[in-house]
Amino acid sequence: MDRVSLLPDLNTLISRQTIDEIRNRIDIVDVVSDFVSLKRSGQNYKALSPFTNEKTPSFYVVPSKGIFKDFSSGKGGDGITFVMEHEGMSYVEALKYLAKKYGVEIKEDAYTPEDVAAQSERDSLYIVMGFAKDYYKDLLHQHEEGKSIGLSYFRERGFNDRILEKFELGYSLNEWHHIEEAAKKTSFSENILEKAGLIIRKDDKTYDRFRGRVIFPVHNLSGKVVAFGARILTKEKDQPKYINSPETEIYHKSQVLYGLLQAKNEIRKYDFCYLVEGYTDVISLHLSGIENVVASSGTALTEEQIRLMRRFTENVTVLFDGDAAGIKAALRGIDLVLKGGLNVRVVLLPDGEDPDSYSKKMGSTEFQHYLKSHTKDFISFKIDLLSADASRDPIKKAEAIREIVTSISLIPDPIKRSVYIKETSDLLKIQESVLLTELNKIIIQERKKREQERMRDDTAEPLPEFIEEAIQTGKTDPLAMVQMQERETIRLLLNYAENGVGDDQKVIDFLLGELEDVEFTNPVYKEIFDAFRKGTDTGTRIDNFYFLENGSDGVKRAVADLMTSRYETSPHWSEKFHIYFPHEKEVMHDVAMSNVLRLKFRLIQKMMDENLKEMKGVSDDTTLDKHMAIHSQLKGAERELAGILGIVVSKG
Ligand code: UTP
Ligand code: MN
Repeated sequence: MDRVSLLPDLNTLISRQTIDEIRNRIDIVDVVSDFVSLKRSGQNYKALSPFTNEKTPSFYVVPSKGIFKDFSSGKGGDGITFVMEHEGMSYVEALKYLAKKYGVEIKEDAYTPEDVAAQSERDSLYIVMGFAKDYYKDLLHQHEEGKSIGLSYFRERGFNDRILEKFELGYSLNEWHHIEEAAKKTSFSENILEKAGLIIRKDDKTYDRFRGRVIFPVHNLSGKVVAFGARILTKEKDQPKYINSPETEIYHKSQVLYGLLQAKNEIRKYDFCYLVEGYTDVISLHLSGIENVVASSGTALTEEQIRLMRRFTENVTVLFDGDAAGIKAALRGIDLVLKGGLNVRVVLLPDGEDPDSYSKKMGSTEFQHYLKSHTKDFISFKIDLLSADASRDPIKKAEAIREIVTSISLIPDPIKRSVYIKETSDLLKIQESVLLTELNKIIIQERKKREQERMRDDTAEPLPEFIEEAIQTGKTDPLAMVQMQERETIRLLLNYAENGVGDDQKVIDFLLGELEDVEFTNPVYKEIFDAFRKGTDTGTRIDNFYFLENGSDGVKRAVADLMTSRYETSPHWSEKFHIYFPHEKEVMHDVAMSNVLRLKFRLIQKMMDENLKEMKGVSDDTTLDKHMAIHSQLKGAERELAGILGIVVSKG
C-alpha cells in the first residue's frame, strides 16, 4: 500500500503570466482590510499591528506603493507577503487565495525538478504533513493493526465513516521507524521529517514521534494539515494521553483553533461558535449534529485565537465541565474572551460530565435541546454562581457586584458595556447609577495603570545618543542643545508638514522658509531635512513613508521614533483636573515659531562657544578684535531671541 501519487501540490507551478495578473489586480487596502480594520491617515492607512499586541498603531498601508509596513514586528511587503505573513500561507497558497479573491484564472506550468527544489521550506513542510496525513489515514483503514486497534477504538466511540473522513483521522503503527521509512522511500529527506516534527532525533538516532496512537490532524483554514494530535490507546501510566506536534515553521499552537476548518461555514451561518476543550469534544458535537464548534486544545484561549475567531463571528458560547475545576476555568475563560471583544455565553454541563460523555448519554436531540435551554449570557451565569450565597450576606453581595462589573469593564465597546450594566441592574435590582459609578471607578483605575505602564515604556525607548549623553553628563553641550531643536523640527515636519500654521501657510513651508539658511548639524536630521527641502524644490511631496522606504537605517529609526503620537497630553490628566489641553495642531503656529526661535537661539550659542574657543589661542590684536566683534554681535542676537522666548541669559 505504498502511495504512488505524491506531492499533490507540486506537480504544477503557477505560471508567470498568472502571477503578474494577480499582482496587477491586487488592491493592498482591500487585501489587508479583510483581516485588519484600517483607519485613513492622510493618503495612507494605519492600524494596530495584527502581528503584535501593541497599543499605539504602527502598522501602515501605503496604497500608492501597494505595500504595508509594520514597525511593531518589522514585517513589510506587498499584498502577497501580507497574506503569507498574516495567514501563515506559503507563496503558492497566497497566490491561489488572491487569485480566487480577484477572480483570476490560474494557469499552471508543469514543474521541473529544479522548481521543486526551489520551493520554500514551508511548502515542503505542508507537503510532508499532507503525505503523513494520507499515510496515517490509509493505515487506519487498510492495515491490519490500524483496523484492529485504531479503527475499532473509533467505532467504539461512535465515530462513523463520515466523521472519520471529515476530520481525516488516522492511525500510527506501533513501530519505531515506520513513517520515517515510508517517507524516505518516497524521497522525503530526514531533515524535513525532523523539521515537520514527524521524527525525533536523539543523539544520532532517529525514531517516529507518533507510535501506536490514533491520529487527529490539525488543519489550517486553507485545508492543509499543520500538526497532529495523537491519542494513546493503552493504559500505560507513564505516557501522556496526547502527544502533539511541536511548533514548526507552519504550526504555531497559539494561532490555531482545532475544528475551525470544518466549522467555519456553520459558524457564519449561525453567527456563533461553541468553544470546547479537546479534539474529541469537537467531534462529539459534530456527531450530535452541531458543527459550529472549535477547540482551544486544552489551554486557555490566546489573543491570537480570539482574533481568528472574530473573523467568523463575534459570538462565542463556551461549554464547561460541571465540576469545580470546570467552573473556575469558565470564569477565567470568560474574562479573556470578553477582553477580546467577543460576546460570551456559557453552558455549564452537569457535574462530572464533559461534552463527549453527556452528548452520548443524552442522544443528539436531547443534547441539542440541553445546550439551547442552558445557554446563559455571562452576566446571568456569574449572578447565578455568585448569588447562591450572596442573597443574604450584604458583604458577599457587594463582592459579587464588583466581580460582575469588573468583567463588564473588560468589554472594549462602551455601548455593549452599558447594555450589560442595564441587564445587571435589572437582574440584581440595583440602581444603574450605582453600577455605573463602580464601572467608572474600575475603568479609571485600569487606565491609570495603563498610563503608568505607558510612561515606563516611553522612558525605556532608547533616546538619540547625543541626548542620552547630555542627560548622563549633565552638561548642556551647545551642540547637543542645537540637535535637540533639530529633532523637534524634524518631528514637526514628519507629523504636521501639511497642517496649517495660520495665514494659509503650511508647516512645511513655514519651517523651510524660516530655516532657509540653516545647516543641520546632526547627520540623520540633516538627511531628513534636506530631503524635505529637495522635495519642495522639485515639487514632490515627501512623507514619512518616503523615509521608511528610502532612508538609511538611522533615518528609518529616527522617523519611526518621531512619528508616534506619544507626545499628546494624557487623557487622564485632562479628565482628572478638568483642564482642557489643546492639541498641538490647534496651536501649531506657536509650536512651529518657538521651534524656529529656539533652534536659532541654540545655534547662536553654539557659534559663540566656537568663537570663544578660537579666541583662546589667539595673540595678535587684530584677530582678537575680530573675535570680540563677532562675540558682541552674537551676544546681542542671543539677548534679543532670549527676550522673545522669555529666557534669562547671563550678561557679558
Ligand atoms: P482531554 O483529556 O479532555 O482529552 O484534554 P479529550 O480530547 O477530551 O479526549 P478523551 O475524550 O478523553 O479521549 C483536552 C485536550 O487537551 C489536550 C488535547 O488537545 C485534548 O484534546 N491534551 C490533553 C494534550 O494536548 N495532551 C494531553 O496529554 C492531554
Ligand atoms: Mn475530554
